[in-house]
Amino acid sequence: MVKVVSPPERLRGEVSPPGDKSLGHRALIFNALAAGKARVDNFCPGADPLSTLSCLRSLGVSIEYDPGPPPRVEVAGVGGGLQEPTEVLDCGNSATTLRLLAGLLASQPFLAVLSGDASLRSRPVDRVIQPLRLMGAQIWGRAGDRLAPLVVRGGRLKGIDYRLPVASAQVKSALVLAGLWAEGDPYLEEPAPSRDDTERMLRAMGASIESRDSRIHVSPLISPLKPLSSPLPGDISSAAFFLVAGAVHPDASIRLRSVGVNPTRAGVVEVLRRMGANIKIKEGRPLGGEPVADLEVTSSELHGVELGGDIIPRLIDEVPVLAVAAACASGATIIRGAAELRVKEADRIGVMVAGLRRLGADADELPDGMIIRGGRKLHGATVNSHGDHRLAMAFAVAGLVAEGETVIEGAEGVEVSYPAFWQELDRILKRKS
Ligand code: S3P
Repeated sequence: MVKVVSPPERLRGEVSPPGDKSLGHRALIFNALAAGKARVDNFCPGADPLSTLSCLRSLGVSIEYDPGPPPRVEVAGVGGGLQEPTEVLDCGNSATTLRLLAGLLASQPFLAVLSGDASLRSRPVDRVIQPLRLMGAQIWGRAGDRLAPLVVRGGRLKGIDYRLPVASAQVKSALVLAGLWAEGDPYLEEPAPSRDDTERMLRAMGASIESRDSRIHVSPLISPLKPLSSPLPGDISSAAFFLVAGAVHPDASIRLRSVGVNPTRAGVVEVLRRMGANIKIKEGRPLGGEPVADLEVTSSELHGVELGGDIIPRLIDEVPVLAVAAACASGATIIRGAAELRVKEADRIGVMVAGLRRLGADADELPDGMIIRGGRKLHGATVNSHGDHRLAMAFAVAGLVAEGETVIEGAEGVEVSYPAFWQELDRILKRKS
């Protein structure tokens, strides 16, 4: 599918981004393991959490899904005992589904096969296979244990003390899930803190997980998890597209309602403010242990920044749209320490830099990031998002300020995390009548 975007006269209005995708996966998986029923409102209706939902159904969990609006799920937790699936578990495009379920299934007494679409089958899984094997799991992958499909024959696990080679919430969460049913206490250490949604939600459900700095201690469960019924906050990663749109467009005022602002996720707000963005934050009531706020953004004069180190895991999914902000800022922006972007749904460094250049920006790839020398006037062009949802939405934001028409190929990718994105964008565009 192709979408065409051209600059509107103004951007005005309120947007409620969909429920947080990361929390959606976790609410499904953790509640599936709990003893009792849970209802989760403002569920993320993207294809990724729905992949988790259908895998859990194949594992014998009864889940009702109401697409809404607002979407919601009711999960009847099985209290630990899942069933052997009779078919391959199809994780679609979702690495969170595949990696978290690998950790969970490592302790379950049956065989399961996890696979997904061509993009997912090209993404690394050795990062979960290796530590799970150290815990005693029987788990194999294609291409010398590097790629999916993945085969897991669950069994008894032991706790290990493990330092993750990359700051990855997916790997951390897989090992936490495995650790809940291990003998002996697992300790995990990350090179830098990644999103802590797993720790927060599991604690709210009665698990004992201690973390200090980047070190985490998981105590194996002594009683089943308690179900957690809570609406999900809006996804900061989806809100980010509107934050940048509002900051770079010359006549914009956009309010984003009920957005999750967990500090391990909301690095994008911090960096945009550092770049000079006018963003007001009005804190609201926390939801399910996650801080929530309304964010208001207005047209801003941005300047370039240097990004690297510990901030990167806190905004890893927002780098593509921050690159658009950088192209519209004065001066250079240098992003380093983000090599993980090369193994996301697409190579987000290569594809983003290629697209920005087609739009007239001065951008170069680095092995682990990019340099963008901002300030050049962007012009419309055809850009290919390679089916990656975040790249498609980032290019749409660029199209709001690029002269003429920006044609975005692979626009259907938004289904993965934000199916209503194009309608929401249309709704806040004001054109001359
Ligand atoms: C996610 C973690 C991040 C992120 C992904 C969602 C999660 O991946 O990029 O979109 O829900 O845990 P990594 O853990 O691979 O960094």
